[in-house]
Amino acid sequence: MAERLDGRTVLVTGANGGLGEQFVRQALERGATKVYATARTPREWGDERIVGLPLDLTDPASVARAAEVATDVDLVVNNAAVAPADDVSVATGDEEVTRRIFETNYFGNLRVAKAFAPVLAANGGGGLINVLSLAAWLPLPTAYAASKAAMWSATNALRGELSAANTTVTGVIVGMVDTAMSARFDMPKVSAASVVDQAYDGLVQGAFEVLADDDSRDIKSRMSGTAEDLSAYLVAKLTAFYDNLAETSASSV
Ligand SMILES: NC(=O)c1ccc[n+]([C@@H]2O[C@H](COP(=O)([O-])OP(=O)(O)OC[C@H]3O[C@@H](n4cnc5c(N)ncnc54)[C@H](OP(=O)(O)O)[C@@H]3O)[C@@H](O)[C@H]2O)c1
Repeated sequence: MAERLDGRTVLVTGANGGLGEQFVRQALERGATKVYATARTPREWGDERIVGLPLDLTDPASVARAAEVATDVDLVVNNAAVAPADDVSVATGDEEVTRRIFETNYFGNLRVAKAFAPVLAANGGGGLINVLSLAAWLPLPTAYAASKAAMWSATNALRGELSAANTTVTGVIVGMVDTAMSARFDMPKVSAASVVDQAYDGLVQGAFEVLADDDSRDIKSRMSGTAEDLSAYLVAKLTAFYDNLAETSASSV
């Protein structure tokens, strides 16, 4: 049975669609009283329990303003991120593209965590969910993967630092999810609903990390091996992934 969020006040970043929308809807299904559905341009929800709030991760004033308004929050879901299609090489990639990705996926997510840590502490501790990615553990040639690895590290550090205020920190690791972000990849994906379901259960149970699909669980189980063995396994897996992508795009033209 799903863990409950009765009486809780939740804030979700990047709430307009994809995983963010699921975080909003499932919070209410689990008994949350109020959800701040934040976005650069908040949408209409037609539900008085959902409060639209402007929040742009890359704008420090906007994050600070949201933390001044949403002082009753006891669960923050750091969900928003970008994964631009022109991010294809770590060796030769444009530094500006890398900076733009880190500005959202690392500095922006960290900014939200820092702005809301005092709010969570004032409300008894509460919880923080950081939506990461299996990309953090894969040798992918993208700044996106590097930004998620950096945020994974920061998530682990935040867990230790925020524990003094009784705040739990849960990182969510998942591979391909069926949302707008992965629309350009034609391959098997898990549903956003299934990821959010596991994320909320994990948070309530105090899990440090939620591994939300088979690929994440498989790769986590291999991380105690040598770097050479893990690398050989991952390179073979990624080669199959790229071959499959090439075949799919060739057969669709
Ligand atoms: N889809 C996947 O395969 C996959 C896999 C692993 C992890 N994830 C992670 O899951 C999370 C949610 O992504 P998703 O799959 O649901 O993709 P999505 O539908 O593209 O959602 C990303 C959200 O982030 C928001 N966003 C981007 N930049 C922002 C900014 N500067 N300030 C505030 N909001 C901003 C977007 O808002 P706008 O509407 O304003 O653009 C959008 O609502 C991300 O952290 C992503 O890295 C996704």
